[in-house]
Amino acid sequence: MLRLAVLISGSGSDLQSIIDHRDHINGEIALVVSNRKTAGGLQRAEKAGIKNLVIKDQNELLNTLKEEKIDFIVLAGYLAILGKELIEAYPNKIINIHPSLVPSFCGPGMYGMHVHEAVLKRGVKVSGATIHFVSEEVDGGPIIWQEAVSIADLETAEDIQKRVLEIEHKILPKVVELYCDNKIIVEKGTVKIL
Ligand code: GRF
Repeated sequence: MLRLAVLISGSGSDLQSIIDHRDHINGEIALVVSNRKTAGGLQRAEKAGIKNLVIKDQNELLNTLKEEKIDFIVLAGYLAILGKELIEAYPNKIINIHPSLVPSFCGPGMYGMHVHEAVLKRGVKVSGATIHFVSEEVDGGPIIWQEAVSIADLETAEDIQKRVLEIEHKILPKVVELYCDNKIIVEKGTVKIL
């Protein structure tokens, strides 16, 4: 069974979606790490009986992931940029969920509410969520899964966030399941789902 680590910074609703799907995942959520002490997701992990830690330093993070024999890392609302060493230690073994349709509204500085505010300001009528492998380019790794949703009727960034989160909670557990079943492969920089 694969050993998963989920990295978070916030309320952890994306983490919860994976926890709720546990029975279908061919792997164990062995560890939750937050870079913020106040992240609500830590309580969700605790409640689910999952080891949870607060780690800010990236060297310490890498050492912990190695000690815990982690095979696969999910960034679920993790608002820090991973360093080169960590990314190189887990090639195509780290996925991130981004709350827009990459390559729109992504890259450095585009995280959390900034994304939905930019979406609202630009007046796009469709947004969505993207799950991709993590490479050294921010939000630039191979795209695994995307789902779009109409936001034409929405007038605030908060409402857009809410609608996009509904999609996130649907696709993230599914992609984790596919990964753990070995159904996601990267060929020439793009992803194929088997
Ligand atoms: C999600 O929108 C995720 O895409 C983004 O941060 C949010 C995390 O929400 N990067 P939560 O902490 O899982 O509730």
